[in-house]
Parts: sequence; structure tokens; C-alpha cells
Amino acid sequence: NRNDTTARIAHVFRGTFVHSTPRAAVEILQNCVLGVDDKGKIAFIEKHQDVVSLLEIWGFETSDIKQLGQYEFLMPGMVDTHIHASQYSYAGTALDLPLLEWLNTYTFPVEAKYKDLDFANDVYTKVVRRTLKNGTTTACYFATIHTDASLLLGELADRFGQRALVGKVCMDCNSAVPQYKESPSECKEETDRFIKELLKKEYPNVKPVVTPRFAPSCSSSLLSELGEIANNNKLHVQSHISENKEEVELVKTLFPGCKSYTDVYLKHNLLTDRTIMAHGCHLTDEELEIFRETGSAVSHCPNSNISICSGMLNVRNVLNHKVKLGLGTDVAGGYSPSMLDAMRRTLDTSKALTIQDPQHKTLSFEEVFRLATLGGSEALSLDDQIGNFVVGKDFDALRVNVCVPDGPIDLFPGEGPKVILEKFLNLGDDRNITEVYMAGRRVVPFPDT
Ligand code: GUN
Ligand code: FE
Repeated sequence: NRNDTTARIAHVFRGTFVHSTPRAAVEILQNCVLGVDDKGKIAFIEKHQDVVSLLEIWGFETSDIKQLGQYEFLMPGMVDTHIHASQYSYAGTALDLPLLEWLNTYTFPVEAKYKDLDFANDVYTKVVRRTLKNGTTTACYFATIHTDASLLLGELADRFGQRALVGKVCMDCNSAVPQYKESPSECKEETDRFIKELLKKEYPNVKPVVTPRFAPSCSSSLLSELGEIANNNKLHVQSHISENKEEVELVKTLFPGCKSYTDVYLKHNLLTDRTIMAHGCHLTDEELEIFRETGSAVSHCPNSNISICSGMLNVRNVLNHKVKLGLGTDVAGGYSPSMLDAMRRTLDTSKALTIQDPQHKTLSFEEVFRLATLGGSEALSLDDQIGNFVVGKDFDALRVNVCVPDGPIDLFPGEGPKVILEKFLNLGDDRNITEVYMAGRRVVPFPDT
């Protein structure tokens, strides 16, 4: 029964819905009806038989129902838990150096250019549009050290309709590019200004995230300041951890008083249940325990981990430790901005681990689907709001059609919805994502096309 008399129904879809629940990695709901209210929230999801009385209660015209075709389904929008918007300009190139050299040679010189707001506007417009088109309804972004360009990224996410956590990057140490770092006081003041100005905009779905680049880029006092800012304002924290072995060794020498890389962030109060740390390839079981205890999450970025030869995260082991885990593209260490690619690379890495050790229990495509949707929402502590189709959650969804003209997928007789899903995950691309919704608003196709 309806008790909220103020909300009205804005959309009703009928057909097949595919999502994850805590119990089932993939749940396929066939011949169902899903209603979205005018606040962008899921109002009901029911078997078809119940629809007539439901629509009567809601006063919704049956003729306005959006009927999905035989080869179509709705799935939750995908959550990219780690992507550098500022590195999108060189995605697909510069993958020939290991992390620390890669940062000084390619990354810092490019990120220094975001002082120029025209350059920032061009790249940030392109990355928001590209990722939205590929089904990323939520992105957790690194920008650069520049406050104004970072605010612009937030504005663009809001304008195009992408849910976003946006981080102004903080770094005061160890940059080989002299113009690309800040003084400790600048770092703190600009982070304060960034948070204040972004919150002042009151974008409903864009939030600031406190962003120390990673331990080697930050002094101990900067890390403490940032821990304090995050805790005082109950904000998210994002950074990198244990991505490659050389970096882990460097952190040992830079922070000799800390027991481990994880201990560095723990000692500076940066590990909370709103923290997400990218990579974690070389975390020990002891460190994973600390993640579990603090409620901190790992963002698994398999394309990047292979592309710049950082390592192979054992996702199964992270999940066995009950640590929250989502997937990330890590553009541009990862060359692809697509979360479909992140799912495929997650499966590849899991299979490579099985080749090395036949005892390793390979991830299934269903589990990887959950990581890209519900898992990502948990990793960002947004699972009360997004991640799957539950009444009361925001409607962030993709309309998928596996049978588009000249598309990448061929179907054969007798293939059911599970095979259709598996083919989309392995073979599909943005041509198959015909509509994208964020908080009930249709954001793809773009209004200008
Ligand atoms: N560690 C610190 N900064 C970065 C970055 O920009 N990309 C990756 N992959 N790792 C990092
Ligand atoms: Fe990264």
C-alpha cells in the first residue's frame, strides 16, 4: 500500500531485471514490473500479475509502461570505484614503465596542465560523457591538485547526470616535476576550500572525497591534517595502497615507525568505513584484517595492475577476509574507461591465479557482476542508496539490448536470460547500453544527440 502521498510515479518498466543481492550474485527477475517515483527512487518491483492493481493505486496509465523487448533487460548502473579523470587524455598510451617512473614521466607532467581550465573542461567533459555512455552511473574520481579544475569536474558530473565522488589531489613530497606539488599549508587550505565550495553548490549526487595521493607523496603532517578533515566532516577518503613492490619498499623507508603500509594510513586516522584504497595487490592477511576491522574498502583495478605490471590482487582472499571490494578502471594506468573491461580483466586475473595455483577458487562471471554493481556501492558505503533494485533506493540503471543492429553480439536459438547476460558481460559494449538512468533521470542518450 502507498503511504507516501506526495510522490508520483515517473516511469514504469516491464520485462526482465537483472541484479545482485547479498544472497545471490545474480538474480534474474522475469516478467516483472518496476516503478520509479518522481524523486528518482524505486517505488515498487513486482511480478507482472500484480501490476494492474498496483498501477491503479499509483494512478499510472498502463499505456505509459515502457515495455522491454525479448533481448533487453535492465541492470543496475555500474560503479567505478577508482578513476583518474585527469589522466583520461592519455588513456591507451604510456604503459611501458613501472608505477614510480610512470608517475614522474607521464602522469605528473600531464596533471600539472590542469591549472588551465580550458584544458580541464575539454578532458573532464570527455571523461564524464565516455564513462556515462559505457554505463558508469557512479564514479569515484581523482582530479588533480588544482581546486578550480576539481570543482569544474564536480559541476560537469552534475550537469551530465553522473553520481560522483570528486577528490582534489593532495601531495607535498617526492614529485620529480617541481611545478606539480603543493606546500603543506596550501594543501590544507585548498582542500578546505574545495570541500566548502563543492558542498555549497548543493549538487544532489556529487560529493567531495579527501584525497591524499598516496603515502610516498605526502608528509606525515599532511596525512594527519587530512585524517582530521575527513573525520571532522564525516567525508570519504580515497588513496592508493600496496600497488607494486617497489612502492611498498619505499613506504617502509619513508615511514620507518609504521609496521606496514596499512599502518601508515591507520596511524594517520585515514582508515574509516568511508575509506577506499586502490589496488592493494601486495597487502598481507594481517593488513586485510585491519581493513575489515576499520570497515575500509579495496578498489580492484585489474587492467592497471597488468598494464603497468604492478601485481595480481587475489580478490578471493580479500572477500574471504570480509573486506568490502569494488572494481575500478584506474584510467590511465588502466587503459580502458569501461567497467565491462574491468569485469573482464577481473576474470582474467582470477584465472591467471588459478593457472599459478589450481587450488585457487576462480571468480565466476556472476560474482564479478556483483562486484561491478552492489560490491562497488558497498565499497563506497552507498549501498543504502544504490547498487541493486530495492524499493527505496535510487533508480540508477542501464537498459541493455543485446540485439542492436550491427552490434557485437550474436544470439542463437534457445539462449535464455543468463546466457544473454553472460554474452553481454563478455562481448558487449556501449552500443548495447541504449539508455542510462541516474536517480531516475535519463542521462543517456545525451540530450544534445
Ligand atoms: N599511485 C599514486 N598515484 C597514482 C596514480 O595516479 N595512478 C596509479 N595507478 N597509482 C598511483
Ligand atoms: Fe589510481
